[in-house]
Amino acid sequence: MLELRQVNKSFPGGVQALADVSLTVKPGEFVVIVGESGAGKSTLLRTINGLVRPDSGEVLVNGHDIGSLQGKEQRKLRRGIGLIFQDFNLVERSTVLTNVLAGRLGYNPAWKTVLGSFPPEDVELARQALSRMGLGDKIFNRAADLSGGQKQRVSIARALVQQPHLILADEPVASLDPPTAHDIMAWFRKINQEEGITILVNLHDIHLASQYGDRIVGMRQGAIVYDGPAVSVNGEIFASIYGRAPVGDKFNGAL
Ligand SMILES: Nc1ncnc2c1ncn2[C@@H]1O[C@H](COP(=O)(O)OP(=O)(O)OP(=O)(O)O)[C@@H](O)[C@H]1O
Ligand SMILES: [Mg+2]
Repeated sequence: MLELRQVNKSFPGGVQALADVSLTVKPGEFVVIVGESGAGKSTLLRTINGLVRPDSGEVLVNGHDIGSLQGKEQRKLRRGIGLIFQDFNLVERSTVLTNVLAGRLGYNPAWKTVLGSFPPEDVELARQALSRMGLGDKIFNRAADLSGGQKQRVSIARALVQQPHLILADEPVASLDPPTAHDIMAWFRKINQEEGITILVNLHDIHLASQYGDRIVGMRQGAIVYDGPAVSVNGEIFASIYGRAPVGDKFNGAL
Protein backbone atom coordinates (compact mmCIF):
# COMPACT_ATOMS: atom_id res chain seq x y z
CA MET A 1 0.00 0.00 0.00
CA LEU A 2 2.81 2.37 0.90
CA GLU A 3 6.49 2.14 0.31
CA LEU A 4 9.31 4.61 0.77
CA ARG A 5 12.68 3.61 -0.64
CA GLN A 6 15.77 5.41 0.58
CA VAL A 7 14.10 8.79 0.66
CA ASN A 8 16.25 11.85 1.32
CA LYS A 9 15.13 15.43 1.76
CA SER A 10 17.16 18.47 2.76
CA PHE A 11 15.94 22.01 3.20
CA PRO A 12 17.82 25.23 2.55
CA GLY A 13 20.14 25.85 5.46
CA GLY A 14 21.39 22.30 5.35
CA VAL A 15 18.82 20.58 7.55
CA GLN A 16 18.41 16.98 6.49
CA ALA A 17 14.75 16.41 7.32
CA LEU A 18 14.70 12.87 5.90
CA ALA A 19 17.84 10.75 5.90
CA ASP A 20 17.67 7.58 3.86
CA VAL A 21 14.18 6.71 5.02
CA SER A 22 12.79 3.34 3.95
CA LEU A 23 9.39 2.26 5.19
CA THR A 24 6.78 -0.25 4.09
CA VAL A 25 3.22 -0.08 5.39
CA LYS A 26 0.70 -2.82 4.70
CA PRO A 27 -3.01 -2.21 4.13
CA GLY A 28 -4.90 -1.85 7.40
CA GLU A 29 -1.89 -1.10 9.59
CA PHE A 30 -2.02 1.51 12.36
CA VAL A 31 1.41 3.10 12.57
CA VAL A 32 2.40 5.78 15.03
CA ILE A 33 5.44 7.89 14.22
CA VAL A 34 7.21 9.44 17.19
CA GLY A 35 10.22 11.65 17.66
CA GLU A 36 11.20 14.93 19.17
CA SER A 37 10.51 18.28 17.55
CA GLY A 38 12.37 18.60 14.26
CA ALA A 39 12.89 14.84 13.87
CA GLY A 40 11.21 14.88 10.45
CA LYS A 41 7.75 13.49 11.26
CA SER A 42 5.77 16.15 9.38
CA THR A 43 8.15 16.06 6.44
CA LEU A 44 7.62 12.29 6.24
CA LEU A 45 3.83 12.64 6.04
CA ARG A 46 4.07 15.52 3.57
CA THR A 47 6.33 13.41 1.38
CA ILE A 48 3.80 10.56 1.38
CA ASN A 49 1.09 12.95 0.24
CA GLY A 50 3.29 14.44 -2.46
CA LEU A 51 3.40 17.90 -0.84
CA VAL A 52 7.15 17.56 -0.36
CA ARG A 53 9.29 16.28 -3.23
CA PRO A 54 12.16 14.11 -2.07
CA ASP A 55 15.68 14.95 -3.30
CA SER A 56 16.20 11.26 -3.95
CA GLY A 57 14.46 7.97 -3.40
CA GLU A 58 10.98 6.77 -4.23
CA VAL A 59 7.55 7.13 -2.67
CA LEU A 60 5.03 4.56 -3.85
CA VAL A 61 1.38 4.75 -2.87
CA ASN A 62 -0.64 1.78 -4.08
CA GLY A 63 2.21 1.04 -6.43
CA HIS A 64 2.19 4.53 -7.98
CA ASP A 65 5.13 6.87 -7.72
CA ILE A 66 3.39 9.88 -6.20
CA GLY A 67 5.95 12.29 -7.68
CA SER A 68 5.47 11.15 -11.25
CA LEU A 69 1.68 11.48 -11.38
CA GLN A 70 0.04 14.59 -12.72
CA GLY A 71 -3.40 16.07 -13.29
CA LYS A 72 -6.28 13.66 -13.01
CA GLU A 73 -4.21 10.69 -11.85
CA GLN A 74 -2.60 12.74 -9.09
CA ARG A 75 -5.99 14.07 -7.93
CA LYS A 76 -7.35 10.56 -7.85
CA LEU A 77 -4.51 9.29 -5.71
CA ARG A 78 -4.68 12.29 -3.38
CA ARG A 79 -8.40 12.08 -2.77
CA GLY A 80 -7.79 8.58 -1.42
CA ILE A 81 -5.60 10.07 1.30
CA GLY A 82 -7.30 11.85 4.21
CA LEU A 83 -5.30 14.50 6.03
CA ILE A 84 -5.76 15.49 9.65
CA PHE A 85 -3.90 18.36 11.29
CA GLN A 86 -3.22 19.65 14.79
CA ASP A 87 -5.24 22.83 14.22
CA PHE A 88 -8.16 21.03 12.52
CA ASN A 89 -8.09 23.21 9.36
CA LEU A 90 -11.81 23.95 9.42
CA VAL A 91 -13.56 26.96 7.92
CA GLU A 92 -14.68 28.37 11.26
CA ARG A 93 -17.56 30.48 9.99
CA SER A 94 -19.04 27.67 7.92
CA THR A 95 -21.32 24.97 9.22
CA VAL A 96 -20.08 21.60 10.29
CA LEU A 97 -21.87 20.02 7.31
CA THR A 98 -20.21 22.37 4.81
CA ASN A 99 -16.82 21.63 6.33
CA VAL A 100 -17.36 17.90 5.92
CA LEU A 101 -18.60 18.32 2.34
CA ALA A 102 -15.22 19.85 1.53
CA GLY A 103 -13.97 16.26 1.74
CA ARG A 104 -15.95 15.56 -1.45
CA LEU A 105 -14.20 18.27 -3.49
CA GLY A 106 -11.91 15.75 -5.14
CA TYR A 107 -14.94 13.89 -6.51
CA ASN A 108 -16.80 16.82 -8.04
CA PRO A 109 -16.13 19.18 -10.93
CA ALA A 110 -14.62 22.45 -9.76
CA TRP A 111 -17.39 24.66 -11.23
CA LYS A 112 -20.01 22.87 -9.16
CA THR A 113 -18.14 23.12 -5.89
CA VAL A 114 -17.53 26.84 -6.42
CA LEU A 115 -21.30 27.22 -6.44
CA GLY A 116 -21.44 25.13 -3.29
CA SER A 117 -23.65 22.56 -4.93
CA PHE A 118 -23.02 18.99 -3.93
CA PRO A 119 -25.05 15.98 -5.07
CA PRO A 120 -27.57 14.71 -2.52
CA GLU A 121 -25.52 11.50 -2.18
CA ASP A 122 -22.60 13.58 -0.94
CA VAL A 123 -24.79 15.36 1.60
CA GLU A 124 -26.04 11.98 2.80
CA LEU A 125 -22.49 10.69 3.05
CA ALA A 126 -21.50 13.74 5.11
CA ARG A 127 -24.47 13.31 7.43
CA GLN A 128 -23.61 9.66 7.94
CA ALA A 129 -19.97 10.43 8.66
CA LEU A 130 -20.99 13.06 11.20
CA SER A 131 -23.41 10.82 12.96
CA ARG A 132 -20.75 8.10 12.95
CA MET A 133 -18.44 10.55 14.72
CA GLY A 134 -21.10 11.34 17.32
CA LEU A 135 -21.90 14.75 15.84
CA GLY A 136 -25.30 14.09 14.29
CA ASP A 137 -26.85 16.89 16.34
CA LYS A 138 -24.20 19.47 15.35
CA ILE A 139 -24.43 19.47 11.57
CA PHE A 140 -25.84 23.01 11.30
CA ASN A 141 -23.66 24.53 14.01
CA ARG A 142 -20.85 26.80 12.97
CA ALA A 143 -17.49 25.08 13.28
CA ALA A 144 -16.34 27.99 15.46
CA ASP A 145 -18.85 27.03 18.14
CA LEU A 146 -17.43 23.55 18.74
CA SER A 147 -14.90 22.36 21.31
CA GLY A 148 -11.44 21.27 20.20
CA GLY A 149 -12.31 17.58 20.43
CA GLN A 150 -15.49 18.10 18.43
CA LYS A 151 -13.58 20.07 15.79
CA GLN A 152 -11.13 17.25 15.42
CA ARG A 153 -14.00 14.81 15.01
CA VAL A 154 -15.40 17.04 12.25
CA SER A 155 -12.06 16.90 10.51
CA ILE A 156 -12.05 13.10 10.81
CA ALA A 157 -15.57 13.05 9.30
CA ARG A 158 -14.26 15.23 6.46
CA ALA A 159 -11.49 12.72 5.87
CA LEU A 160 -13.98 9.82 5.97
CA VAL A 161 -16.18 11.23 3.19
CA GLN A 162 -13.15 11.13 0.95
CA GLN A 163 -13.56 7.35 1.32
CA PRO A 164 -9.82 7.15 1.84
CA HIS A 165 -7.68 4.07 1.92
CA LEU A 166 -5.08 5.98 3.92
CA ILE A 167 -5.31 8.63 6.64
CA LEU A 168 -2.28 10.75 7.55
CA ALA A 169 -2.66 12.60 10.84
CA ASP A 170 -0.02 15.13 11.87
CA GLU A 171 -0.06 15.69 15.65
CA PRO A 172 -3.87 15.40 15.74
CA VAL A 173 -4.09 15.63 19.52
CA ALA A 174 -1.37 18.20 20.28
CA SER A 175 -3.92 20.97 20.97
CA LEU A 176 -6.22 18.84 23.09
CA ASP A 177 -6.36 18.08 26.81
CA PRO A 178 -5.34 14.53 27.83
CA PRO A 179 -8.83 12.96 28.12
CA THR A 180 -9.85 14.44 24.76
CA ALA A 181 -6.56 13.29 23.24
CA HIS A 182 -7.36 9.73 24.34
CA ASP A 183 -10.88 10.06 22.96
CA ILE A 184 -9.57 11.11 19.52
CA MET A 185 -6.95 8.36 19.48
CA ALA A 186 -9.71 5.86 20.27
CA TRP A 187 -11.66 7.17 17.27
CA PHE A 188 -8.66 6.57 15.03
CA ARG A 189 -8.35 3.05 16.36
CA LYS A 190 -12.04 2.40 15.76
CA ILE A 191 -11.87 3.66 12.18
CA ASN A 192 -8.79 1.57 11.58
CA GLN A 193 -10.39 -1.58 12.96
CA GLU A 194 -13.88 -1.17 11.58
CA GLU A 195 -13.13 0.25 8.13
CA GLY A 196 -9.68 -1.20 7.60
CA ILE A 197 -8.33 2.23 6.68
CA THR A 198 -4.55 2.38 6.98
CA ILE A 199 -3.56 5.07 9.46
CA LEU A 200 -0.28 6.90 10.05
CA VAL A 201 -0.29 9.24 13.02
CA ASN A 202 2.49 11.54 14.18
CA LEU A 203 2.67 12.01 17.93
CA HIS A 204 5.17 13.56 20.30
CA ASP A 205 4.16 11.33 23.16
CA ILE A 206 5.49 7.79 22.99
CA HIS A 207 3.29 6.69 25.90
CA LEU A 208 0.15 7.67 24.04
CA ALA A 209 1.64 6.15 20.89
CA SER A 210 2.18 2.78 22.49
CA GLN A 211 -1.34 2.65 23.84
CA TYR A 212 -2.94 3.04 20.43
CA GLY A 213 -0.51 2.07 17.68
CA ASP A 214 0.32 -1.50 16.77
CA ARG A 215 3.58 -0.42 15.31
CA ILE A 216 5.88 2.40 16.34
CA VAL A 217 8.26 4.17 14.02
CA GLY A 218 10.78 6.25 15.93
CA MET A 219 12.55 9.10 14.14
CA ARG A 220 15.62 11.03 15.15
CA GLN A 221 17.34 13.69 13.04
CA GLY A 222 15.54 12.59 9.90
CA ALA A 223 16.30 8.89 10.22
CA ILE A 224 14.19 5.97 11.35
CA VAL A 225 15.92 4.64 14.46
CA TYR A 226 13.21 2.21 15.56
CA ASP A 227 10.52 0.37 13.66
CA GLY A 228 8.73 -2.36 15.53
CA PRO A 229 5.89 -3.39 17.79
CA ALA A 230 4.70 -0.93 20.41
CA VAL A 231 5.05 -3.60 23.09
CA SER A 232 8.78 -3.95 22.50
CA VAL A 233 9.64 -0.31 23.19
CA ASN A 234 11.94 -0.16 26.23
CA GLY A 235 14.20 2.38 27.88
CA GLU A 236 17.02 1.76 25.45
CA ILE A 237 14.80 2.30 22.42
CA PHE A 238 13.32 5.40 24.05
CA ALA A 239 16.85 6.78 24.45
CA SER A 240 17.69 6.08 20.82
CA ILE A 241 14.63 8.08 19.70
CA TYR A 242 14.78 10.97 22.15
CA GLY A 243 18.50 11.11 22.93
CA ARG A 244 17.87 10.96 26.66
CA ALA A 245 16.84 8.43 29.28
CA PRO A 246 13.13 8.14 30.02
CA VAL A 247 11.85 9.77 33.18
CA GLY A 248 10.32 7.40 35.74
CA ASP A 249 10.09 3.65 35.47
CA LYS A 250 7.63 3.27 32.61
CA PHE A 251 10.32 1.88 30.36
CA ASN A 252 11.91 -0.63 32.69
CA GLY A 253 11.18 -3.57 30.48
CA ALA A 254 8.53 -3.68 27.82
CA LEU A 255 5.57 -1.37 28.13
N1 LIG B 1 9.73 24.07 4.45
C1 LIG B 1 10.83 23.97 5.19
N2 LIG B 1 11.88 24.80 5.00
C2 LIG B 1 13.02 24.70 5.74
N3 LIG B 1 13.19 23.78 6.71
C3 LIG B 1 12.20 22.92 6.95
C4 LIG B 1 10.95 22.97 6.22
N4 LIG B 1 10.15 22.00 6.69
C5 LIG B 1 10.84 21.38 7.66
N5 LIG B 1 12.06 21.92 7.83
C6 LIG B 1 13.09 21.47 8.78
O1 LIG B 1 13.21 20.07 8.67
C7 LIG B 1 13.36 19.47 9.95
C8 LIG B 1 12.25 18.47 10.18
O2 LIG B 1 11.04 19.19 10.31
P1 LIG B 1 9.64 18.51 10.56
O3 LIG B 1 8.63 19.59 10.57
O4 LIG B 1 9.46 17.40 9.62
O5 LIG B 1 9.82 17.92 12.04
P2 LIG B 1 8.76 17.33 13.04
O6 LIG B 1 9.31 16.03 13.55
O7 LIG B 1 7.43 17.32 12.41
O8 LIG B 1 8.78 18.39 14.24
P3 LIG B 1 7.60 18.88 15.21
O9 LIG B 1 7.43 17.79 16.21
O10 LIG B 1 8.13 20.14 15.81
O11 LIG B 1 6.39 19.10 14.37
C9 LIG B 1 13.37 20.61 10.96
O12 LIG B 1 14.71 20.93 11.24
C10 LIG B 1 12.70 21.74 10.22
O13 LIG B 1 13.13 22.97 10.67
MG1 LIG C 1 5.66 18.26 12.82
